[in-house]
Amino acid sequence: MAHGEWPTRRGERVPGTEYVLDETLGQGRVTLACRVRDHDDQLLVLKVLLSHLAGASDIAERFLREARLFASFEHENVLGIADVGRITDGRPFFVTPWTKARVLASVIRSRQLPLTLDQAVAVAVQLTDALGAIHAAGAIHRAVHPGNVLLGWTGHVWLADFGVTSASLLPAITTPGEMYLEPRPEGMTDDPRADLFALGMIFYELFGARGPYPASDRGSFAARLRSGPPEPVGAMLDGSAVPRPLADLLTSMVAADPASRPASVWPVRETLRAVAARSAPRD
Ligand SMILES: Nc1ncnc2c1ncn2[C@@H]1O[C@H](COP(=O)(O)OP(=O)(O)OP(=O)(O)O)[C@@H](O)[C@H]1O
Ligand SMILES: [Mg+2]
Repeated sequence: MAHGEWPTRRGERVPGTEYVLDETLGQGRVTLACRVRDHDDQLLVLKVLLSHLAGASDIAERFLREARLFASFEHENVLGIADVGRITDGRPFFVTPWTKARVLASVIRSRQLPLTLDQAVAVAVQLTDALGAIHAAGAIHRAVHPGNVLLGWTGHVWLADFGVTSASLLPAITTPGEMYLEPRPEGMTDDPRADLFALGMIFYELFGARGPYPASDRGSFAARLRSGPPEPVGAMLDGSAVPRPLADLLTSMVAADPASRPASVWPVRETLRAVAARSAPRD
């Protein structure tokens, strides 16, 4: 491998960092994700900005700014950012712990859901708390989708990663995670309620087994969103009914008009806790 080149084989160093490649995990629209080892042989995930985006607009600067913001706080349900920097060619990267957790996206795909109502509420509360911490830090996640939700084997949930930029700056291909994000009109300012929309999309699948705006691509998703109210929340996959206050909450979270959504994570948390309290076994 020539000096400064991206590693292709296990054990080769990511140029300009202390990390060596373990395996490539995947490439999205913005980043390449790799599992790496640090000097203590710990497994971590390193995500680097794709080279063709490094010179485009101000993405590299935004990526660094967001990574530093996310690295500046800790919360038990947010997968922490352990390191932020630039590789030799100047492209920014960040590093998170690697986990053995299951990714919610593959749990949904392989139909390993259903969770029971109580289990789904426990996941939902932790995701809501994660978003609350992110918004309290003055950040917006922008990539709340099931590929970034990690489910630990003992019930712990982490929200991973963050999104860097508005979709309009990037090539027009759709990645699976984007089918959960609010299709925003050009020029619309960033708003934490975009994260609540995406959280509501996940909740629909956790609780109701189907999404509010069935569509096969981003274009038909946006059209379906504009054409009328969301589909009603169905029964859970295990057959149990979704309590009415929870179903109403989910419908409001995915409202097309941000003004009709909960104003922050706090009302979401209240409703989830009330549902949890009501379904808890009584002595
Ligand atoms: N911290 C982690 N621990 C374990 N596996 C991970 C971790 N981060 C990512 N992965 C795995 O690597 C895959 C690719 O991750 P990556 O973050 O690049 O894609 P994504 O989550 O689908 O999209 P996004 O760019 O929006 O985060 C994930 O689907 C997951 O299987
Ligand atoms: Mg991710």
